[in-house]
Parts: sequence; C-alpha cells; structure tokens
Amino acid sequence: MTNIKDIKNNVLRDIYKAKSFKDLQIIKIRELGKKGKISLLMKSLSTVSNEEKKSLGKTYNELRLKVLDTLAVKEQDLKDIEIINKINNENLDITLPVRSGNNDDEGKIHPISRTIDSIIDIFANFGFTVETGPDIENDFNNFTALNIPDDHPARQDHDTFYIKNEVDENRKLLRTHTSPVQIRTMINKNPPIRIIAPGRTFRSDDDATHSPMFHQIEGLVIEKEVNMGHLKSLIKSFCEDFFEVEDLPVRFRPSYFPFTEPSAEVDIGYSKKGNSINIGKGSDWLEVMGCGMVHPKVLINCGIDPEEWQGFAFGLGVERFAMLKYGIADLRNFYEGDIRWLDHYGFSLQGVPSNTWSKFREG
Ligand code: DAH
Repeated sequence: MTNIKDIKNNVLRDIYKAKSFKDLQIIKIRELGKKGKISLLMKSLSTVSNEEKKSLGKTYNELRLKVLDTLAVKEQDLKDIEIINKINNENLDITLPVRSGNNDDEGKIHPISRTIDSIIDIFANFGFTVETGPDIENDFNNFTALNIPDDHPARQDHDTFYIKNEVDENRKLLRTHTSPVQIRTMINKNPPIRIIAPGRTFRSDDDATHSPMFHQIEGLVIEKEVNMGHLKSLIKSFCEDFFEVEDLPVRFRPSYFPFTEPSAEVDIGYSKKGNSINIGKGSDWLEVMGCGMVHPKVLINCGIDPEEWQGFAFGLGVERFAMLKYGIADLRNFYEGDIRWLDHYGFSLQGVPSNTWSKFREG
C-alpha cells in the first residue's frame, strides 16, 4: 500500500518551501488536479473492496483536506509577505520644501500680548504676583464695592454692557475695568497684598481711540505702612523700565476716582515731530494711567481694617502703552486680524519673557 504518511509529509514540505503563488499553483495541480496524485488515489477507491473503501476513503479524504488547508494557510502567508514588502519598499516623499526667501510661515506674538508680558515681567521684578478675574462680573465687584453706588455719576462714564438679568448686586455685566480683581483679591486673601491683574475689559465705545474690548492692567498693594511716596517711586521706575528711558519725566496730576483718595493721573514727558513720538524728551505731557491711595470705604467693603492696613492702586490701558512704545497709530489695527500687519508689528517667539500672560489667562 502506498505510504500515506510519506506522501503527506512530502506534499506538506513542498508547500512550506513554496516561494510564490506560482509554486503553490504547481503543487496544487500536481496533487489535486484531474490527474493529480491525490486525485488518482481517490479514483483508485473504485477498484477496492467495500471494506477497504471505508477505511482508505477516510484516510485519503483526510489527506486531501489537510493539503487543501495547508495550501490556504501558505497562500495567506504569501499575501502577507507581499504586503509587508510593498510597505517596506514604498518610498513616498510626503515632505514639501520650505518656500524660499522669507519667514512668513512663522507665527508672531501680538503686540498686546507682548506688552502685557513685558509689564508682568517688570512688576515681577518688584515682587508682584499675577491675579486674574472673569470677564463677566457682578455689579458689586465692578461698582458697589469700589465705592461706586447705584446713583454715582461715575456709573454713567463707563458705558456698561449689562447682561439681561435681575437688577441687584448680583446683576451680571461685562467688566468695565480690571479694578474688580482688587475686590476679589482683598476678599479672598489676607494682606499684605502685592498684585497686578491683566485682562480684557469692555465698554460700549468704538472709534479710532476706543474699542468695545480693550485691555487693562490693575495694580494693588496693601501693607501696614505704605504711602503715596512709595506709589510715586514705583510708577516712575515702572515707566522708565517699560519705555527704556532713564530719568523719564513723570508727573502726578491730582484727579478723582471713587475708589482712591487721594487720586492722581500719571503723565509722562514727550515730544512730537511730524508723526513720530519721542518719549522722555521735550516739554509736552501724555496721560498714561490712573492711581491713588485705596479709599478706606473700599477696604471696609472687603473686610480689611483701614486703621491697620492701607494701600495704593493703579490702572493702565495696555493698548495705549503698546501704541506709544511700538509706534502704532490706530487702535483698531490691533483687532483687524490682518496677518500682514501682525507680520510687521508682531514679535518673534525668541526672547519671550518667562512670565507670560497666557500662563495666567482664564478661559
Ligand atoms: N479703573 C480705572 C478706569 O478704568 C483705572 C484706575 C484708576 C484704576 C485709578 C485704579 C486706580 O486702580 O487707582 O478708568
């Protein structure tokens, strides 16, 4: 009798060794084709006794199925190898060379962000930390606690965007200045306090020098013994650092804010030739910020004893500082989103100060 085991081993070995679909096809025809070896074995069953037919039939059929099965497995292996080779050999270059001749694709830092970052940096050197508050404030923090009650005329100056809801101290509005961050800080932290608070502010105003959204930086110092002299020297040092002018002429002009007493407006010396402004030289004055000693009523509103603590505060408009420092003439340019403008007035990512506004910004 034909040694079935040998046949099986030989065929399976040939299948394993096959290197291509063509090799497999040859083996398949040789074994299972019309005149294939296994097919002939099956045919030979018609010549044997019924007894033998039963057992041989089973053996031959098992052999046939095993060969078919092994062929299918090998075919799948060959297919997998084919795909892997294709992936390994495929060399598609998906890179694009940089357009030559400019750095237009590099992002730029907006002058407002840059101005806020450098102001944070200067005050960090004076020991100030950064606080932030939400753009949507309540009436109490934005007005009442700052000694601007309901009937106060200063309310009319602010052109407030109110959000439709109840008219009480919880009435929501878009904050008209960063001063409410003073209130939040004094209510939540124990003095001594030394903070600045940069952020977006909103007023219903829109022309070449006003935008409905603009930026302010608030400053607050609460200590046991701090006076107007400290305030003046701090503001003078800050302006000199920011405008990079030594002995910058700085003037404190008496003024009025409901939340400070006494109050002052700060002017810096400058001169103008044609369209260019020269900070620090000449006999003209430019108003740059408001400041004063924190009103005792404001301290009381925040639970701080004015007999024990006193302090000063200041507030400045970021756009104004940016326009003066970088020679930007129209405030509206800041918000037009013109990439060509940003490419010209923006700042490269190199040399970004370590304290950046984006680290503190809410939302
Ligand atoms: N909040 C004032 C404004 O928006 C600016 C200001 C003035 C803030 C004097 C102060 C300050 O903290 O002391 O016009």
